[in-house]
Amino acid sequence: MGTITFVEYDGTEHVIDLEAGKTLMQLALDNALPSIDGDCGGECACGTCHVILDSSLIKKVGSASSNEIQMLDLSAEKTATSRLACQVQVSEDMAGAIVRLPEYQV
Ligand code: FES
Repeated sequence: MGTITFVEYDGTEHVIDLEAGKTLMQLALDNALPSIDGDCGGECACGTCHVILDSSLIKKVGSASSNEIQMLDLSAEKTATSRLACQVQVSEDMAGAIVRLPEYQV
């Protein structure tokens, strides 16, 4: 058991208990985290669960798929380490991870 820290664009931190097997989006919604909307329910079809991972975390979970990139291209805040939180499975080895949130979801 560990935690994942979500950091809003203004620096506000939310430390959430890691729950392996959920997606990052579900973890965020279950903990009433602001800034993650998840409008399509995790179908990779809305782009409202944009998160920005650090380089060590992106190495663990991998880069965005082509479907994700299509959604992420709609965001002005997309970075090289952007992912859709609904497409990232939480695992135990993500303990201590930092997940940054954009100012605006699409
Ligand atoms: S919840 Fe819609 S793309 Fe992730």
